Amino acid sequence: MKSLKLTLALILISVTLFSQDLSVKDLTVEHKKNPIGLDNQNPRFSWKISGTGTGIMQTAYSIRVATDEKFSSSKTVWMLEKNNSPESVLQLYAGSKLNSAQRYYWQVRVWDNKGRTSKWSETAYFETGLLDKTEWKAKWIEMEGDTLRYSPSPHFRKEFQLAKTVASARVYVTSHGYYELHINGKKVGDQVLTPGWTSYGKRLQYQVYDVTPMVVKGANAVAAVLGDGWYRGTLAWGNNWAIYGKSLGLLMQLKITYTDGTETLVVTDNTWKASNNGAIRMNDIYNGETYDATKKLTGWNLPGYDENGWKNVKTAEYANNLIASEGSPIRKIQEIKPIKIFRTPKGKLIVDMGQNMVGWLRLKVAGTKGTVVTLRHAEVMDKFGEFYTTNLRAAKCQITYTLAGTGEETYEPRFTFMGFRFVEVTGFPGELTADNITGVVVHSDMAVTGSYESSSALLNQLQHNIQWGQKGNFVDVPTDCPQRDERLGWTGDAQAFCRTAAYNMDVSSFFTKWLKDLSADQKQGGEVPDVIPDVLNKQNATTAQPSAGWGDVAVIAPWTMYLVYGDKSVLETQYPSMKAWVEYIRKKAGPGLIWKGGSKYGDWLYYHPPVNNHTEPDGHTEPDFIATAFFAYSSSILANAAAVLGNSQDEKIYTDLFNKIKDVFNNEYVTKAGRIGAQSQTSYVLALMFDLLPEDLRAKSAKFLVDDIKGRRNRLSTGFLGTPYLCHVLSDNGYTDVAYDLLLQETYPSWLYPVKMGATTIWERWDGQKTDSTFQDAGMNSFNHYAYGAIGDWMYRVSAGLETSSPGYKNLKLQPHPTKRLEFSRASFESPYGTVKSGWEKSGDKIIIKVLIPANSSATIILPTPDADKVTEKGISLKDKKEFTDIVVKNNAVTLTAGSGEYIFEYPSAIK
Ligand code: BGC
Repeated sequence: MKSLKLTLALILISVTLFSQDLSVKDLTVEHKKNPIGLDNQNPRFSWKISGTGTGIMQTAYSIRVATDEKFSSSKTVWMLEKNNSPESVLQLYAGSKLNSAQRYYWQVRVWDNKGRTSKWSETAYFETGLLDKTEWKAKWIEMEGDTLRYSPSPHFRKEFQLAKTVASARVYVTSHGYYELHINGKKVGDQVLTPGWTSYGKRLQYQVYDVTPMVVKGANAVAAVLGDGWYRGTLAWGNNWAIYGKSLGLLMQLKITYTDGTETLVVTDNTWKASNNGAIRMNDIYNGETYDATKKLTGWNLPGYDENGWKNVKTAEYANNLIASEGSPIRKIQEIKPIKIFRTPKGKLIVDMGQNMVGWLRLKVAGTKGTVVTLRHAEVMDKFGEFYTTNLRAAKCQITYTLAGTGEETYEPRFTFMGFRFVEVTGFPGELTADNITGVVVHSDMAVTGSYESSSALLNQLQHNIQWGQKGNFVDVPTDCPQRDERLGWTGDAQAFCRTAAYNMDVSSFFTKWLKDLSADQKQGGEVPDVIPDVLNKQNATTAQPSAGWGDVAVIAPWTMYLVYGDKSVLETQYPSMKAWVEYIRKKAGPGLIWKGGSKYGDWLYYHPPVNNHTEPDGHTEPDFIATAFFAYSSSILANAAAVLGNSQDEKIYTDLFNKIKDVFNNEYVTKAGRIGAQSQTSYVLALMFDLLPEDLRAKSAKFLVDDIKGRRNRLSTGFLGTPYLCHVLSDNGYTDVAYDLLLQETYPSWLYPVKMGATTIWERWDGQKTDSTFQDAGMNSFNHYAYGAIGDWMYRVSAGLETSSPGYKNLKLQPHPTKRLEFSRASFESPYGTVKSGWEKSGDKIIIKVLIPANSSATIILPTPDADKVTEKGISLKDKKEFTDIVVKNNAVTLTAGSGEYIFEYPSAIK
């Protein structure tokens, strides 16, 4: 009996221990951690699993969702019993109909292929937004007369009494222009530049905040201040402003639930009061902010404020185009301190932040009332060491602060942002020190998912510059640049960079949202405007003139998101837009299938040799060639998308279309010897990348490309369209060494030339600043433009070898590419299944390859050595390892399959 008890106890202990070995983590709903304000009836759940041992695969899972954290049966809305499925990413909710404005708690547990069962995961939650438009009881409120350019910020306020104790409170809010909402004296939430930027005429995001701790029984005040933002401010060129409207407005509803279960609503309506006699005298995205602290309203956001001088608001009607926030909220992400404060030869006082950053400065200052401090922002100093703002074009990027004279004052703007490294300070009372200045870095809050590093400090700085280019230009919309009078969602730039972006950060929600704006702004005939949201054509314009390589973002970006996140619904949602784009081109190209006149921008900013250089051709690529190549490429992606969505009819139609374009293309542009188009690098790159050549010409064409690169002494000549694919085409065709030569080239034109010149972000042009420190044409010379940063994708995918071979990284392809030019390179990436690592290093006369494969995924590992017998893993010969299957030698490389785990391979190096 005693021994039976002991055995039972031992079994119990081991079962518990065993189950603890397997656990579930990182629960997300619609790619987000504990989202509040989903307006989706069928949200999708994802999780990651981990456990001891290798080769872990999920075999089943169970999910429960309830309106209480205890998961009591009466509150359970979905109980998915053990479901035999390996899927752990984006699993569709299938419980009872979700209520509006309701919080749901959920948990998941999993079973694995080792016979283990996890415990229920930690509880995560999601909360629905206002699922039914009729639930909006609030009215738009505006301030009478507030319709002029550069008007002072309107403030709105309302007091209310709550009779009972508050159990919970939620606010649903949006605005025309920017809003900052306050309850009882405190700002609501930590987001900035809300409500973000969408195609406002068609889609306007509202935010939901849990404000339970902010409201109290008794007297309360809710208040808001508005800024011009993308809605009314200056946007695009030619003195354009008020693209979406001239009146700023607020729409807000606050729902309070008392402890006795009853509810009350506080909404914007004609009982609110307004004033624009506050401190923000002017605010504008391009031009900055003027703040007069002597006019600061004190107590305006608290109950008991004297509303004398405040006016009645007017209410306004707008069609309800509200959507719950879909993107990643914009936040203050980090703070940096100046590295230097100095005087220029002309005596100007300059702060050097050490990093080309986007956001604003927080200023700490003390002085007499009425003292005016001015901050001007710039990316670079000129060759004379003076402050340089000409490349900002018409954007003033100026902050003017008038002191209240009340002792130490701290100020930071809220309705503008600047792209800058240097700040010119005038009028500062006393001595300016680093203590007075803090750089506030602002961008969409996307989780950092990737890292790449190598033995080259220059290459590491390039990676840093790519990441900072992404930070500065992912401000709710993927913009071209963050500083001059532009900052628009340029489509060509976004398609070039989206894959790299998806390595560095989690851009799933960011692109899901932006692509819907693309669909919304796509014109009747399928034209994709150059920028999204479309502010270059008249609002409600039914046509636009698109450009090849720009409009193709409609197809390339959804496909990329599907590849990276395994998210089919992006494809589903975007499919009509993708198809409309391809059909638009088909109509334009006509039966000849050559898209004449389809490329407005060509291979934008390709290399031009310096004047007086008569020996070197420029990198020009014929525009119709580009247009036709992209036509083919988009058709082939569309065919693939159709296949994924089970639309076999379209799959056939667009596969046929692709094949026909390919024939025409070969006839028109390819010689029998394999010379292509204008023989520019981009001609070869596009033809090879988009699979437009007959098999037997590929090697010959690749050789011509390599000859051209060598003829330029290992330099590139490509622009926005060719550059992202250049190194891929080389490595795909056996010229990884040439790709490394290009990547590590330090002289112009190259990726490392700007790095050598001190760049801290990616430049718009290969020669933004010349070797003599003079600048390129100020009309188009941004120092923070991510497009050429698209090389990051090659660094992750090829140099470190971290690649997916199935959508969403379920099956990995890990194939590091060692080179004699570096000592090591390695990358890490947070995939939907967990952390993936891949990389290589030299160790004496050996190469060491280290990889990490997360649970519930597997990998094909390709080791660049032909000799399987000489490969070991953690010191043991490959053939003695059971973890690996399918070991074969193919194309001079050992290929094998592995399940989850960390593996360290070693083999004798043949690299000289
Ligand atoms: C933008 C680009 C964009 C281009 C199109 C420029 O003004 O800054 O990045 O793609 O126009 O020609």
